[in-house]
Amino acid sequence: MTEAAPHLPRRVVVTGAAGKLGRVVVAHLRGRGVEVLAVDRVGGRDPRDVGGEFLLVDLTDYGQVIEAFTGGTDEHGGTVDAVVHLAAVPAPGLTSNASTFANNSAATYNVFAAARAAGIKRVVWASSETVLGLPFDTPPPYAPVDEEYAPRPESTYSLNKALEEEMARHFCRWDPDLVMVGLRFSNVMEVADYAAFPSFDADPALRRWNLWGYIDARDGAQAVERALVHDVPGADVFVIANADTVMSRSSAGLMAEVYPGVPIRKALGEHETLLSIDKARRVLGYEPRHSWRDHVDDGAAPGSA
Ligand SMILES: NC(=O)c1ccc[n+]([C@@H]2O[C@H](COP(=O)([O-])OP(=O)(O)OC[C@H]3O[C@@H](n4cnc5c(N)ncnc54)[C@H](O)[C@@H]3O)[C@@H](O)[C@H]2O)c1
Repeated sequence: MTEAAPHLPRRVVVTGAAGKLGRVVVAHLRGRGVEVLAVDRVGGRDPRDVGGEFLLVDLTDYGQVIEAFTGGTDEHGGTVDAVVHLAAVPAPGLTSNASTFANNSAATYNVFAAARAAGIKRVVWASSETVLGLPFDTPPPYAPVDEEYAPRPESTYSLNKALEEEMARHFCRWDPDLVMVGLRFSNVMEVADYAAFPSFDADPALRRWNLWGYIDARDGAQAVERALVHDVPGADVFVIANADTVMSRSSAGLMAEVYPGVPIRKALGEHETLLSIDKARRVLGYEPRHSWRDHVDDGAAPGSA
């Protein structure tokens, strides 16, 4: 293993490590020399194996979480410097509302509480774009949407994400040295997903539910790395999306057609994201490096966003 970049935590637990985003985050951090204990309730020796150091943990069981975080499990010792918590039922409607809430709220409480008990001062976790008011049946207050208005959860899944953000604020109030960063990821995409993107253009209503946003999993991993070196104590949240939309139509044109009454707060680039990443750029130094346009011919020049 390469030496960890000096500014990065040495040993990090990543939860949800067998998931779509988690697998990319684990590989990314290991590539940067971070010692990662990958944790999930599935994986290990099954086909979704993430490889490397891996521990099967059901995060709804506090005892398992505290053991993982304090290095108590045989073969998995070592002081944990930071936690990246990505495990969740990752969308509304995949399980019953009550089951989504029970799993996600217990998992996140246990992760936050066990990190506190273990003296871990740095927690990065996956919040969600949904707290911005998705699926925008009620139009957004303005565009691009950002972190400046209060969460507007419209589903049980999103309600839980909003409560997690509130919970983080209180954990940080209890411990003034704690750094907690919530990343409000947009819809996570892998390169294989991009083949479908040109078909979105025919009907702007198809993807209006998240203002035509997305996040390339590799850029999601970059955001996690940036959040892991964020050094300001307290809880903060950031919208994490790519720099462009999923559409070939212009962002201004989409808003004018679908949300004509919504104020547009800035001069928009041709395909500029309507999920503002200005704060993540400014505070975290996040800068997306990927675009679906680099992988699929949308009829426009590559990287024209
Ligand atoms: N996929 C998206 O479009 C999207 C968008 C915004 C936010 N997010 C958030 O990002 C995170 C990662 O999402 P993803 O797309 O990789 O989801 P995913 O379903 O691919 O991965 C989530 C992983 O969490 C694990 N998990 C769930 N409950 C667990 C528990 N109790 N104990 C241990 N492991 C558990 C699952 O086994 C799974 O491997 C989630 O928190 C999700 O809510 C996802």
